[in-house]
Order: sequence, then C-alpha cells, then structure tokens
Amino acid sequence: MSTEILVCVLCRPAGTARELPRAGLALFEVVHEAGLRDGQPFAVRAIECMSACDRSCTVAIQAPGKTTYLFGGLLPTLAYANDVLACARLHESSPDGWMARECRPGTLREGILARIPASLALPQPGSLTAAPETA
Ligand code: FES
Repeated sequence: MSTEILVCVLCRPAGTARELPRAGLALFEVVHEAGLRDGQPFAVRAIECMSACDRSCTVAIQAPGKTTYLFGGLLPTLAYANDVLACARLHESSPDGWMARECRPGTLREGILARIPASLALPQPGSLTAAPETA
C-alpha cells in the first residue's frame, strides 16, 4: 500500500483561543487512532503546514503516480476521521487516484482545496544511476 494521509498538526481554525490544543493535532490523533483500530494500511503523517492555514483543518491524500488531493475545513471528530480513512481506501483502489465527488465520503465531498494531477516526470529505469557525461 502506498497511499499516505498527511494531516497538518499546526492547523488552528480562525478565532480559536491560543491556549486551546490545536485542532490539527487532535485531527491527526483521531485519524491515526481510527486507522490503527481498523487495521488500515495507510501511513498517517504529521505535517507542519500545507499553506492552507485559513481553511483549517487540512488533510492531503497522495500516492506515487496518482492524483493528490488537499482538503480543508475538516473537524477533529471521529466522523471526519472515518471519512478520511474511507477516502484513502477509495484513493488506493483508484488506478490514477481520481475520486469523483459523488464517490467520496460525505464530509469530503466539499472542501477540496487542490486536486493535483500525478507527475509525468517519473524516473526511468537507470536514470538515477547514470553517470554524467564528460567532455
Ligand atoms: S497551519 Fe495547517 S495548513 Fe498552515
């Protein structure tokens, strides 16, 4: 399994008191714990900012050679965590990572901040080990 779930642990929705725990960290913990509970194979990575701070909380789903998604406006609840995990399963099952809106879990049908096509510049066999030509 290569799909990764990236959760910004620094996200703090606008207007949230600074002395309260960060909602992003809480979302990371609930996604991580729900994934462990369900035996999900996905890596859940804590990220410090994905430059969508005004749309807290943010989560990205990515895998090599597949479309990358960035979602915003998520809440640190089990319902959102379960939908993030369901979305990761959908992403994993899609050959190119494409996830149609109507197929995504309820809380992730809205709030897409970015849908980035997979890079076409994948390394070719041997290209990383080739020695530079000399004159
Ligand atoms: S602090 Fe979460 S995206 Fe910037």
